[in-house]
Amino acid sequence: MSLLSRIQEKNQQSAESPNPGKPQQSQPVQVKDGDIRTAFRENIKPELKKANTPKKNDKHQELKNLLHKKILTELKEDNVEEIIKQLDSMALEIIKENETFRGHIDRKKVIEELANDLTGFGPINPLLLDEDVSEVMVNGPDQVYCERKGKLVLTAIQFRDNEHVMSVIEKIVAPIGRRIDESSPMVDARLPDGSRVNAIIPPLALKGPTITIRKFSKEPFQIEDLVNFGTLTSEMAIFLDACVKARLNIFVSGGTGSGKTTTLNVLSNFIPEDERIVTIEDAAELQLGQDHVVSLESRPPNIEGKGAITIRDLVRNSLRMRPDRVVIGEVRGAEALDMLQAMNTGHDGSLATGHSNSPRDMISRLETMVLLAGVELPVKAIREQISGAIDLIIQQTRLKDGSRKIVNITEVQGMEGDVIVLQDIFSFSQDGMTPEGKIIGRLLPTGVRPKFYDRFEASNIHIPASVFIEAEVWT
Ligand SMILES: Nc1ncnc2c1ncn2[C@@H]1O[C@H](COP(=O)(O)OP(=O)(O)OP(=O)(O)O)[C@@H](O)[C@H]1O
Ligand SMILES: [Mg+2]
Repeated sequence: MSLLSRIQEKNQQSAESPNPGKPQQSQPVQVKDGDIRTAFRENIKPELKKANTPKKNDKHQELKNLLHKKILTELKEDNVEEIIKQLDSMALEIIKENETFRGHIDRKKVIEELANDLTGFGPINPLLLDEDVSEVMVNGPDQVYCERKGKLVLTAIQFRDNEHVMSVIEKIVAPIGRRIDESSPMVDARLPDGSRVNAIIPPLALKGPTITIRKFSKEPFQIEDLVNFGTLTSEMAIFLDACVKARLNIFVSGGTGSGKTTTLNVLSNFIPEDERIVTIEDAAELQLGQDHVVSLESRPPNIEGKGAITIRDLVRNSLRMRPDRVVIGEVRGAEALDMLQAMNTGHDGSLATGHSNSPRDMISRLETMVLLAGVELPVKAIREQISGAIDLIIQQTRLKDGSRKIVNITEVQGMEGDVIVLQDIFSFSQDGMTPEGKIIGRLLPTGVRPKFYDRFEASNIHIPASVFIEAEVWT
């Protein structure tokens, strides 16, 4: 089945029944008078109110403390599951002995919270288990935000105090041999399910220990999902599929959380089955469908500051691994030079992402990264390397309404004098906003056929001319 018919079929299905398992594309924030901040405040108000109520009622905490003490003093049990089984009868015993608890206590809640402390990651455990939540952000003990269905929401969850947050951080980092304390107050880690975690503590984090978790999605988004969300049009999807198959070197550029890795994953899945793929990442997030994939992960230095293996080391090593394709999670330093050299010396069809606000900005960032590699090259030579290596830049953005869009697909055409020539093939233009705050705009082909069009024909890939001229309007 062709990509276009797959996309059309999937879109029809999802129009009939929204996919319940997957986070749906960002629900728009309700905007009145065009003020997104007012709308944001109004949206989170009910949750804010809850969060601002005084910390858990004293009785609730008192019962929890007594129960905790009872476990420590009376139970000789080490098995956590056995302890959890006995929590209810122990709580009942305490309540029986102490009349002041009666009528003031939600016993089930106390037990649930204690069980979460014992087995999972404390108060944020329910968020980690909730499939609709894609990110969890703990800003000190009193403030926990999450991203639910694309929208940022303040939750009613609170920790007891800084130590309580610290104990969760320690639980996350200890199994992977990392530590967090004043001498190393920032740490990157992963949960057993692959979710990416960053923790930073005082004195660097002023509000208290801070945790940011990007949840690992069990079912990664497919191209059909992104089309369905309005991140790109079917035409753009067909074009990108052809670009990957024709072995163009593609760079996905965008801001934090704009969906770069997700798009990279979708693009990588266009690589034909019979090619050998080497992926290189800081924290393995890519989930490719092909069989022949070798995944490499960089390593931070150990406690003595030794033994680091950088992305650059891995890029160099990968070239000795007979890759048909090299996929780099994020290029942000000296590895840019090795990547460009590889792309210029026969490693076509490489894919990577980078952090920047526009295709032009991405080019200047790459220039700076090459300089970081410590080579003394004139700027013009660096630009020639870049323009020779990279064929296409895909610019992705998280718009104000929370939706993620590919806003430019830009060809790197070559050099004119000292300047790299960029040409948009598709671009997004914003026309306005609906009363509900959803951004209205159009993703349109610019009408320009890319210079590398011949490479499609050479690879026996035929894409309809309408891809470059037909307009698709969406709201
Ligand atoms: N096109 C999309 N539509 C809706 N949600 C998306 C889309 N792409 C990604 N997401 C969601 O946005 C979040 C961030 O995605 P992703 O990790 O791909 O971003 P990123 O740009 O790589 O972030 P970072 O800069 O932190 O590496 C994830 O929760 C993901 O599920
Ligand atoms: Mg990423």
